[in-house]
Amino acid sequence: MAKKIALTGIKPTGLPHIGNYFGMYKPALELAKDFDTRYFIADYHALNSLKDPKLVKELSYEVAATWLAMGLDPKDSILYKQSAVQGTFELTTFLMAFTSKGLMNRAHSYKAKVQDNKELNKDPDDGVNMGLFTYPVLMAADILQFDSDVVPVGKDQAQHLEMAVDIAQSINHNYKQELLKIPQAFIKESTGYVTGLDGRKMSKSYNNTIPLFLPSKKLRKLIMKIVTNSQSVEEPKDPDTCSIFSLYKLFASKDQQLELRKKYLAGGMGWGHAKQYLFEIMDETLAPIREKYTELINDKSYIDDVLKDGADRANEIVSRKMDFIRKAIGLA
Ligand code: TRP
Repeated sequence: MAKKIALTGIKPTGLPHIGNYFGMYKPALELAKDFDTRYFIADYHALNSLKDPKLVKELSYEVAATWLAMGLDPKDSILYKQSAVQGTFELTTFLMAFTSKGLMNRAHSYKAKVQDNKELNKDPDDGVNMGLFTYPVLMAADILQFDSDVVPVGKDQAQHLEMAVDIAQSINHNYKQELLKIPQAFIKESTGYVTGLDGRKMSKSYNNTIPLFLPSKKLRKLIMKIVTNSQSVEEPKDPDTCSIFSLYKLFASKDQQLELRKKYLAGGMGWGHAKQYLFEIMDETLAPIREKYTELINDKSYIDDVLKDGADRANEIVSRKMDFIRKAIGLA
């Protein structure tokens, strides 16, 4: 039986942090074992806010190198740049005809921007380009062009997925056939969130992230900055309310977790020591990925080859789908 299709896109907006690693990359790589996967760099989506050509290019390489460093097999999965698949843009235009403006008005990211503008006494649409306004339509095209079954995304993208479903359903309804496959969101909730340096959710907007590819020394320095309480070395400590332990758990085996838990409860371990344990286990896990990343980012022609191959395979699938759609809707 043919495998089901999983697809997701990542906007090139800067190097990933530990939160992205556990929340996004790792689950997506797990999925690649059981699904046919299409993973892409959402460079046209990034263009809504990124206007510097050099930066767009460099950041796109970074995302590709990140996927590959994490172990994505580019022969098995299709890894490509959104901008390289022509059918996406034709499909977007088709979807536009079935997307009500009201639906776009309700998109969280657009609404948030309008709200910010109001609070600043600016025009409600200040700084809103049509790319941002129609963001969910392009995203729907990304998904629907491949007959994707599942779309692994963070919670913040759930509404976009619902919109893709809405648009696809109204099209299928109109043409009285399943022209577009209805996708399902795959939202990873179980592990909750990854704790940042200040104890809040790790997020770029809180400025509390641990970048994934930091060199050892810098990684150690950053870990030493994790905010802790003022308990003395002697005092027993509670692992379950501790940011250091919460991060440690992500990297450690069950046995290692138990061992550190004992040290917490016994007392006699200062925060500096706990941080050192965290640093060691993180560095050990991340060193190989970091090395691979450095190797890849310095071999752009290899990345070009991978992306070219991915684009070729993606275009083949999508152009077939578009031929089918064109006929079904009376354009061919
Ligand atoms: N909007 C997603 C984000 O900001 C990126 C994205 C673009 C995407 N197209 C997609 C994700 C299609 C899943 C499916 O993270």
